[in-house]
Amino acid sequence: MSCDNFPTCLILIIDNKVIGHCKISLVPKLNGSCFIESVVIDSEYRYRGLGSILLRGTEDYVLTKNIKSIYLATKGQEQFYQKNGYYNCEPIDLWDCRAVSKPIDVIRKKYTHKEKCSGPPPPPLPNLFSFKKSKITTSKTYMVKHL
Ligand SMILES: CC(C)(COP(=O)(O)OP(=O)(O)OC[C@H]1O[C@@H](n2cnc3c(N)ncnc32)[C@H](O)[C@@H]1OP(=O)(O)O)[C@@H](O)C(=O)NCCC(=O)NCCS
Repeated sequence: MSCDNFPTCLILIIDNKVIGHCKISLVPKLNGSCFIESVVIDSEYRYRGLGSILLRGTEDYVLTKNIKSIYLATKGQEQFYQKNGYYNCEPIDLWDCRAVSKPIDVIRKKYTHKEKCSGPPPPPLPNLFSFKKSKITTSKTYMVKHL
């Protein structure tokens, strides 16, 4: 494990060789949930059950942190995850836009304060909140396992 806090990475070591890796991040808007990515087993060691062992280890680890749901997105490895108890779900929003609301408000105020500005007005800021409202479209399959 790379550190005690999230995001963190777990590695699988066999005979002093790192042969597997998995990154775990919290999902800010879903309490007790995490997202796993970069799940990989060294190509020479695949199809021996080690990927499944890595997932088991990941599940055991997150349970110790009171995480009860694991989400992921995959393209092509659905069968592997199904075999390990994961099932298809709706895409989830991995970013919490609320975290940036205050700084954007501050920036808006700064640039609309006309008395102190000279020269042409700055271009309008992108409306990041429209991303929050828009439906997530993705070619990946989102999956979840409730522990
Ligand atoms: C996905 C991965 C981690 C699986 O590791 P592994 O050690 O081979 O997994 P296991 O041996 O525990 O399980 C293999 C099972 O997964 C499935 N599977 C694994 N890779 C697959 C593939 N490329 N296509 C279809 N099924 C696959 C098989 O159904 C197999 O089941 P079986 O044992 O009944 O034949 C590994 O193939 C890998 O590192 N792939 C490249 C990186 C990657 O795509 N990671 C997933 C990112 S979402």
